[in-house]
Amino acid sequence: MARKLFVAGNWKMNTSLASAKALVGELVELVGKSDKVDVAICPPFTYLGAVGEMILSSNIALGAQNMFYEDNGAFTGEISSSMLKDVGCKYVILGHSERRHVIGESDELINRKVLKAITDGLAPILCVGELLAEREADQTMEVVRRQVKVGLEGVSVADVLKVTIAYEPVWAIGTGKTASPAQAQEVHAMIRELLGNMYDKNVSDSIRIQYGGSVKASNAAELMGQPDIDGALVGGASLKAGDFAGIVNAE
Ligand code: PGA
Repeated sequence: MARKLFVAGNWKMNTSLASAKALVGELVELVGKSDKVDVAICPPFTYLGAVGEMILSSNIALGAQNMFYEDNGAFTGEISSSMLKDVGCKYVILGHSERRHVIGESDELINRKVLKAITDGLAPILCVGELLAEREADQTMEVVRRQVKVGLEGVSVADVLKVTIAYEPVWAIGTGKTASPAQAQEVHAMIRELLGNMYDKNVSDSIRIQYGGSVKASNAAELMGQPDIDGALVGGASLKAGDFAGIVNAE
């Protein structure tokens, strides 16, 4: 089965209400009718509502950058899956490297969020990826394997295709250093094989695995042309409509 490419923009902690609206206005013009590629944008929590309304009649889907695993209650500063669904989110990024390495999220915490997102009808984008020191110590495969296994613990074969995996080598995020297409492909192939062992052939054939880390219009086609790379999770280049559109339309 051919897998449809999926390109998601992770705006991180950027934009203002005004600049978010301006960016979305341009994106609707440029990629709002995209049908060859699935497109999502993930603005900061505070702009989800406004951005969500602007993309309602487009083919651009809304995603959040994080969530908590409880329904509601005394969890100051956290956001629940139902709140995200309320404002129109379809996707939620979980386990992004900045949450793992800046905020300190563990594989176990991320797994609880993945399970909760699926239960509540949100599609997780589960991010995995090694640090530079781990790559240099030849631990890339071991680290990524652990992140995938623990991140998906308890996710059934019936639910796992709701998940997109994003392989993002930490040393390539925001640094301008992209993994070479061959380096990325090698890890993607390992992840796909692992998912085949954890689940079945249908899962390994069908699940989408995005690459992330300094993806730009100029390198997107070669990366997304690799057999096991099914799209991109884009940070910096998702903040300029023309650059993001260049990635969506890369071939
Ligand atoms: P980058 O970020 O494209 O700015 O490297 C990617 C990401 O962190 O998702």
